[in-house]
Amino acid sequence: MTHAETIESRLQETRKFEPPADFARQAHVPSRAAYDETRRRSLDDPESFWADIARGFHWFAPFSKTLEWNLPYAKWFVGGKTNIAYNCLDRHVAAGRGDHPAIIWEGEPGETRKLTYRELLGEVCRFANALRSIGVKKGDRVTIYMPMTPELAIAMLACARIGAPHSVIFGGFSVQAIVDRVEDAESHVVITADGGWRRGKIVPLYQNVDEAAARCPLIKKVVVLRRTGNDIPFKPGRDAWWHELTANAADACPVEPCDAEDMLFLLYTSGSTGKPKGILHTTAGYMVHTNYTARMIFDLKPDDVYWCSADAGWITGHSYVIYGILSNGVTTLLYEGAPNFPDWDRFWAIIAKHQVTKFYTAPTAIRSFMREGREHADKHNLSSLKLLGTVGEPINPEAWIWYHEVIGGRRCPIVDTWWQTETGGILISPLPGAIATKPGSATLPFFGIDAVIMDRAGNVQPPNSGGFLCIRKPWPGILRGIWRDPERFQKQYWSEIPGVYFTGDSARQDEDGCFWIMGRVDDVIKVAGHRLGTMEVESAIVSHPAVAEAAVVGVPHEIKGNAIAAFVTLVTGTQPTPALRDAIIAHVVTQLGAVARPDQLRFSQAVPKTRSGKIMRRLLREIATTGEVKGDTTTLEDFSVVASLAQKDEE
Ligand code: WT7
Repeated sequence: MTHAETIESRLQETRKFEPPADFARQAHVPSRAAYDETRRRSLDDPESFWADIARGFHWFAPFSKTLEWNLPYAKWFVGGKTNIAYNCLDRHVAAGRGDHPAIIWEGEPGETRKLTYRELLGEVCRFANALRSIGVKKGDRVTIYMPMTPELAIAMLACARIGAPHSVIFGGFSVQAIVDRVEDAESHVVITADGGWRRGKIVPLYQNVDEAAARCPLIKKVVVLRRTGNDIPFKPGRDAWWHELTANAADACPVEPCDAEDMLFLLYTSGSTGKPKGILHTTAGYMVHTNYTARMIFDLKPDDVYWCSADAGWITGHSYVIYGILSNGVTTLLYEGAPNFPDWDRFWAIIAKHQVTKFYTAPTAIRSFMREGREHADKHNLSSLKLLGTVGEPINPEAWIWYHEVIGGRRCPIVDTWWQTETGGILISPLPGAIATKPGSATLPFFGIDAVIMDRAGNVQPPNSGGFLCIRKPWPGILRGIWRDPERFQKQYWSEIPGVYFTGDSARQDEDGCFWIMGRVDDVIKVAGHRLGTMEVESAIVSHPAVAEAAVVGVPHEIKGNAIAAFVTLVTGTQPTPALRDAIIAHVVTQLGAVARPDQLRFSQAVPKTRSGKIMRRLLREIATTGEVKGDTTTLEDFSVVASLAQKDEE
């Protein structure tokens, strides 16, 4: 969809699920009336609302001003000094919860490790000392490219403890993605592992870093965790083993009092240009937002065993595997591997074994479980579950109902949480004891969140008219910028509709005020819940020597939500062959990782463009989905291109 097209809303789902009474009775927000009251208070005076919550944390120096808002730059808890790792660990140990489990970890091969809050604090301190010993200082960006092991959490928390921002790269990305991110962040230290386990195979993490380092002289130091035990071409001098670095490190480490607005991390995500952007989050606002949303939306209680299946390489992992959960003193479960290893019941086996109470996953995962059949879930006792959550893309009502019945045994409320890498934490979601849920809707905005549907001109839309989802006021977890690209920050989020935060999503609000997300309005494709920029994939394809031009679109896919369809024009004289098609697809995978693998790749004589040179993705989407073009082609520069593309489909 482009901005110019009208956004049509589709009304279909009418089922409504009231919060179960016994859940509501024990919930932090126990009724709709309680939600309405708190929400009114939060919107009447957002600053004192958030300040009250912020005072519940440990501060080395108190903040003097809650919000300083110079559009588009927000500063929260101005003048305050705090540390998120301290608030995640030391604070709970000091309060007598040192023996409570912080992390339960399960490796893909089946081993389990538990770390109490005291043990996790000790490990974080040891590794923080190790980082300092190799010269990492406050403000230095540290790249983390690791499997889902406790050490990934330890590395992130150790960086936070010493005020060194981390930049975590998802372990499924490959060499070029590492090079791009390390260069953009100017990061000299990379933390990785010999490998990680995925579907019984070793993911060659070290090898990817080693190749990236060969291309990128900025990388001066590589810390390597021994995880899989495979041989690696270790480079003494540049490389250091995690276990050697920490062997003699003290388990006490002075904590760095960070300014509320000190950078906590960069996380790269796709936008509508070729280069991923470094989304910048700072310390205190992010801490307050992730902590409070996690507590209210997952209704966290001290004895919960909470599991979010996201990798820490995504924002969901940052906010709701690590920071938002540990800052609440709750047990967070980490699982290293694939959902279908050794079989499709792995997730349900983990839930039964560790008595998981709250489970948060992606619609794409739910759809794959559905396809494999409920017998995998039925083999396990899932009665420990009290609440379910989803994130990353709209959930189709069919999958919602399956999740509710098969996994939740009809007793667990489902929180469909809408947010983005940029928002830091959840902005729209039901509160499980208060809000009636509707399959497919993220329902209502969280406290203090002023979400609206607007048209292009910034007019707020009436119920059931589609438009752009925008947020009118800043919230604590809002991104503070794009790393070293203030213009792109301004343009992408604050210029489409002046004065408000532009999410890039289209949506409608129904007659009850519930939000229904319809999709992206920019060149971002959500593939299995992961965000990919069309331009990013196109650049990867074009970097293959046989390719002259490429255009990429998202097409509906039963499991992944969207899949990538690529149209490729070859350099003159090159023959389109199935072998070349496979080679180009393999090339994309080496460039970007398997997440970006195109499902379809068609060769074409040319790519349809408007007279102003913009790729007409709508036409390509039509061709990739239906094999023909019926839509409006009046702005097309050369119609013969479309005719030949449609013919190509016959091959
Ligand atoms: C985009 C952000 C937020 C963590 C994971 C994704 C889509 C996210 C929902 C939802 C419908 C959703 C939006 C959004 N999205 N959650 N509950 N319902 N759509 O973060 O990779 O930054 O992607 O994901 O399109 O803009 P992200």
